[in-house]
Amino acid sequence: MTFDSAYDLVRGLHILAVIAWMAGLLYLPRLFAYHANSEPGSDKAETFTVMEAKLYRIIMNPAMMAAWVFGGLLIWIDAHRRSQGWGFLGEPWMSTKLAGVLFLTGWHLYLGRARRAFTAGTNTKSNKFWRMTNELPFLAAIVMVIAVTTEFGAR
Ligand code: HEM
Repeated sequence: MTFDSAYDLVRGLHILAVIAWMAGLLYLPRLFAYHANSEPGSDKAETFTVMEAKLYRIIMNPAMMAAWVFGGLLIWIDAHRRSQGWGFLGEPWMSTKLAGVLFLTGWHLYLGRARRAFTAGTNTKSNKFWRMTNELPFLAAIVMVIAVTTEFGAR
């Protein structure tokens, strides 16, 4: 296997991990929006608690880790393939991408805290809050994907 074909394979695995992560980041707040409208302790609330726990633990956590592992590998391969070495990390498109990664990771952890609050029956955020913030990960994804596909500001 050549360096280039290894890169293409890792890139494919990275994109698959990102798809699964994004699916969870977009779906979990929808569950929160319905959960916020249900009576704490009711059968409906219990069902949402189980759905949220499974989505977060079985899909979102592993998918985020896989996106990081394959993304980290891409950084390593890129540093050896590109003429400017590690310098590409400081170019505008890659800094934008990394800022987006930090935002999505922070949002993921924030959703994890919110999930635990729902489970404990201590959620204070409204249905409206979860509907309003639901689009944030997708807005970040638009910026990040366009940053990597256009490589704006690259030397
Ligand atoms: C989790 C941490 C992440 C790291 C460390 C990371 C890093 C990278 C790196 C180094 C590349 C190769 C860039 C290149 O030279 O073309 C890449 C490609 C890509 N990343 Fe990520 N990424 C992460 C998360 C994400 C997320 C959350 C998204 C989408 C929302 C995303 C979307 C993409 C896409 C679409 C490509 C392919 C670009 C192309 O082939 O032109 N990545 N990523």
